[in-house]
Amino acid sequence: MTRFDIITCQPHLLTGPFDHSILKRAQDKGLVEVHLHDLRKYAINKHGQIDDYAFGGGAGMVLMVEPIAKCIRELQAQRTYDAVIYMTPDGQTLNQPMANRLSMLKNIIILCGHYKGVDQRVRDLFVTHEISIGDYVLSGGELAAAVLADSLIRLIPGVLNDESSALSDSFQDNLLAPPVYSRPADFEGHTVPDILLSGNTPKVEEWRFEQAVQRTRQLRPDLLPDEKN
Ligand code: ADE
Repeated sequence: MTRFDIITCQPHLLTGPFDHSILKRAQDKGLVEVHLHDLRKYAINKHGQIDDYAFGGGAGMVLMVEPIAKCIRELQAQRTYDAVIYMTPDGQTLNQPMANRLSMLKNIIILCGHYKGVDQRVRDLFVTHEISIGDYVLSGGELAAAVLADSLIRLIPGVLNDESSALSDSFQDNLLAPPVYSRPADFEGHTVPDILLSGNTPKVEEWRFEQAVQRTRQLRPDLLPDEKN
């Protein structure tokens, strides 16, 4: 069982993604638990304050250290966490090897930033991993947290019906996935490659590998170590 505790000031942004399809099935099967924690419940005063102006001036509000510290400490008093991940555009860029490694952890806290981010002391005192989902800025960490959680959950054994199917994803061998086809075999004169209809499994596998290499060379040559530049 993998447990995600997601700390956010916008929990409604995260109620959708986990309620459908593979992510819902993973929870229904008892393989994953996702708990959302509304940061506002840990506010420092009755006004529900969780952010404040930055010392030294400048535009933008900063999520305060106290509500976040209270929430993380309450969680850590209940169980041991393998990671406290802060979603931030200045973190390490998420890729498949990182997702593979993180998918083996059991209890994970994900902290979503907002506004100008969180007080640096949160990062210094509590955060173990800082992760970005790409070199662009979102209005908050929630969508990034959903992306991260999705990429981990689908790798947990038993989550996908065909357990080998995560292994044949793009990036798992530093290769993009080969093209796939389904019925009809002929769509308005555009036919499926004969080899896929042959029933010759070793030949099909060979074809898929060649296609994956060719596609990677064409679209993402940077993934092929020998062929950079
Ligand atoms: N928060 C805002 N932008 C982000 C990004 N690109 N990755 C992770 N968290 C973020």
